[in-house]
Amino acid sequence: MENFVFINTTKIIFGKGAENQVGSELKGYKKILLHYGGGSIKKSGLYDRVVKSLQEAGIEWVELGGVKPNPTLSLVYEGIRLCRANQVELILAVGGGSVIDSAKAIALGVCYAGDVWDFYDRGVSPQQSMPVGVILTIAAAGSESSNSSVITREEGQLKRPCNTSLNIPRFAMLNPELTYTLPPYQTACGVADIMAHILERYFTRVKNVDLTDRLCEAALKTVINFAPRVLENPCDYEARAEIMWAGALAHNGLLGTGRTGDWGSHLIEHELSGLYDVAHGAGLAVILPVWMEYVHKEDLNRFVQYAVRVWGVDDCFGEPERIALEDIARTRDFFRRIGMPVSLEDMHIGDDRLDEMAEKATRKGPVGNFKTLEKTDVLEILNRAR
Ligand code: NZQ
Ligand code: ZN
Repeated sequence: MENFVFINTTKIIFGKGAENQVGSELKGYKKILLHYGGGSIKKSGLYDRVVKSLQEAGIEWVELGGVKPNPTLSLVYEGIRLCRANQVELILAVGGGSVIDSAKAIALGVCYAGDVWDFYDRGVSPQQSMPVGVILTIAAAGSESSNSSVITREEGQLKRPCNTSLNIPRFAMLNPELTYTLPPYQTACGVADIMAHILERYFTRVKNVDLTDRLCEAALKTVINFAPRVLENPCDYEARAEIMWAGALAHNGLLGTGRTGDWGSHLIEHELSGLYDVAHGAGLAVILPVWMEYVHKEDLNRFVQYAVRVWGVDDCFGEPERIALEDIARTRDFFRRIGMPVSLEDMHIGDDRLDEMAEKATRKGPVGNFKTLEKTDVLEILNRAR
């Protein structure tokens, strides 16, 4: 096991009606920015409940909606201007990973005299941020308690992450009922992303990490078990609750303690969603199984362990190589069954810009840790994903 420092300070407020406490949770703040997406929170009635709670607590707010999936830098700039002009003290993100990531970027930008993009693509480390609170509406990115924010700069279609403990939200309200209104496709994208967050950590070359292996396996089995249930019955509270909690735990850092994760699939996927504006989880459902096929020989035993412990493949199934390929097939088949694309063609993405994506993904050097991937490797993975 490697040395590690684990910090996660997000206060999780979980359960039915959690969002109605937002006013009291924000006690002490005079003015906040209410940040949200393309309108789902207005349609569902969540917006009205949040506003009522703020009014009752005497909290003033300015608002900025319109965050798009794969959130953009231009809206972040607008948010920074708005916060500065109104002396906002906290940003309340009501929505999914995109809204939360946009809120985190605004929070960093308000405290910085330069261009906030410096933190995403120019190697500058942020020193300060504003507090961010979250009301989550989709179990997926894990941004509600992660240290990450991912923003797309429209110029050059560059999607880049900024990872810093300053990005960890102060609190996150997780009410599984808020996810009932998700379209099945978005639910499934969320499931794929959650599984990818666990698998990126699971496929490590670090030895003697049995506790975190088993935590990862438990989280994976939970997601695999409950995802079909939420797709069959979107209002199954218990199943939604399991997925929502798994989504937060998958990406709050705990499952990666003492080990170095891979993250190659994520970095390759960010090129896909940066260029083609596809849903992040869908892109991962395509890339991750191909990546697994490409790298499995690096540590066959780890793939056998995944097969036996997560998918219940009998270790008498055959040679280790056969077992490894079987678990990859089962992973891909699971994604297909929940309605995810499993090839670039399924996403209507042609092969004309594969080289450009491979180039962009590796511009700052090779990616991944389980196997280090050069540009030619990334290109090969993209080609095999066709
Ligand atoms: O914009 P609205 O109208 O709210 O609609 C959203 C959006 O169209 C809709 N939606 C969300 N909750 C809903 C709902 N529709 C009906 N009912 C609800 N309850 O779902 C769509 C997708 O929302 P989005 O926020 O984009 O989804 P997600 O949470 O998957 O976030 C994806 C973004 O997070 C980044 C991804 O790259 C992508 O940009 N990630 C962020 C991470 C982090 N900060 O730690 C880690 C991840 O690996 C990921 O990269
Ligand atoms: Zn992800």
